[in-house]
Amino acid sequence: MFITFEGLDSSGKTTQARLLVDHLRVRAHAPVRFIREPGGTVISERLREILLDKKYLELSEASELFLFSASRAQLVRQVIHPALLRGEIVVCDRYYDSTTAYQGYGRGLDLATIRGINTLAAAGVVPDLTVLVDITIEEIEKRKHASKTEFDRMESAGREFFARVHNGYLSMAAEEPKRFVVVDGMRSVDDIAQEIADVVDNRQHLLKKEGQEES
Ligand SMILES: Nc1ncnc2c1ncn2[C@@H]1O[C@H](COP(=O)(O)OP(=O)(O)OP(=O)(O)O)[C@@H](O)[C@H]1O
Ligand SMILES: [Mg+2]
Repeated sequence: MFITFEGLDSSGKTTQARLLVDHLRVRAHAPVRFIREPGGTVISERLREILLDKKYLELSEASELFLFSASRAQLVRQVIHPALLRGEIVVCDRYYDSTTAYQGYGRGLDLATIRGINTLAAAGVVPDLTVLVDITIEEIEKRKHASKTEFDRMESAGREFFARVHNGYLSMAAEEPKRFVVVDGMRSVDDIAQEIADVVDNRQHLLKKEGQEES
């Protein structure tokens, strides 16, 4: 089973992905692998350094798209696909929907082109479930000020950019309602984690039932 987390910066993806991994490691009957994007392989981590470093203000939009996609192409082939073939559960903090949302809806690159590049990068590995942690733009600003961490290159974009990314995510979730679950990220960490665990447990149950019916 392949589960991805998506959402705006500071929406709580990493917090929730970690909690789901803890939950699954106790309950699931298969190994659980936790991965973050961009990264997860030696090559992908090198590309992550370039993508997030504020020094590289000259990085063009097309280069950004290809570097994220290159990082993903390596991760899918080297880690995600082999793990899924072994029957593991893979939880990934961001995946190709981030490219559609940020480089497509956010930066304004052609969506059809991005979908083609995503398909190539992902080698047909589509998530079984994508959790979209949804927060308001105002909340991003509050959380960033509260955490007082320095913004990386991606996070330094403006409010209009995040508004486009936010609308993009909601459109994508509406287009693929079976794959996406949208959770209200404005609630407490525990409430959100409980909802996500329930959704995942139900999906696993359904997948198992479908498997039994086939055999
Ligand atoms: N439900 C919540 N309510 C309030 N604050 C939260 C909640 N979930 C996470 N936070 C806080 O918001 C900040 C960002 O959380 P987290 O790192 O999980 O988000 P993220 O989506 O992974 O961010 P990034 O896009 O930067 O990786 C952290 O300081 C975290 O403690
Ligand atoms: Mg994170």
